[in-house]
Amino acid sequence: MTIPDKVNTDRQPAIDTNAEERLTRRSIRSFVVRNGRTTAAQTDALQRLLPKFGIPYSDSPFDLSDAFGRTAPVWLEIGFGNGDVLINMGSNNPDANILGAEVHESGIGHALIGVEQNALNNVRLIQHDAMEILENMLPPDSLDKVLLLFPDPWHKKRHHKRRIVQEDFLNAVARTLKPGGILHCATDWAEYGEWMIEKLENDARFDNCAGPGNGSPRPEWRPVTRFERRGHRLGHEVIDLLYSVK
Ligand SMILES: C[S@@+](CC[C@H](N)C(=O)[O-])C[C@H]1O[C@@H](n2cnc3c(N)ncnc32)[C@H](O)[C@@H]1O
Repeated sequence: MTIPDKVNTDRQPAIDTNAEERLTRRSIRSFVVRNGRTTAAQTDALQRLLPKFGIPYSDSPFDLSDAFGRTAPVWLEIGFGNGDVLINMGSNNPDANILGAEVHESGIGHALIGVEQNALNNVRLIQHDAMEILENMLPPDSLDKVLLLFPDPWHKKRHHKRRIVQEDFLNAVARTLKPGGILHCATDWAEYGEWMIEKLENDARFDNCAGPGNGSPRPEWRPVTRFERRGHRLGHEVIDLLYSVK
């Protein structure tokens, strides 16, 4: 039997290239967007709550205090997945402004449901490529923390260029974190952990809070994430890496 062109032979839904193009102009992307998969409750939350808690992506710097309606320390979570950590951080840190960047509609819908259920006023979401948010939208020295928890490891060597932790990511994080601000990465993919350590230790702008080459214990305030639980089931060891920026 011949397989016609454009039939999706994979079990995954097809990649939504239109959505990807709306979400970034970068040609090498650290994410993939697939069609479908949004529940009715998530769609409803996206329609009702995104206008209130979402910030539209813009190519020029925006005012964080305006967006949150107050001035407070800002924590950015990149790739928040279904938003459980984001909601937990918002609930447990009422004095912080919590900003989340994610591309997946279903995750954003899920997070919005959490924002409403927990009556959170200190959480805002941006549905866009975090790289472009960091590079174009966030003012210099505007963030107190950047969290990158269990980023896609892109295991295959030919995909390593899609890993988000690259030189341009570190440039963007060093620019947007305040002096003394923290970049907090975690991964269950040992080789990606080594990759992160190598890149960060060779960058004079970052200091490892646990001493050169060391991981940090998971801070109590960081809840276990969905992908981390999956890593545990697979027997993977998790490493947390905390770096302060000079
Ligand atoms: C492996 S999942 C981890 C999700 C969550 N942090 C957790 O630990 O459960 C990685 C997430 O990062 C998101 N992501 C990857 N690259 C991104 C980017 N450049 N901007 C925004 N989100 C991104 C993906 O859509 C995906 O939801």
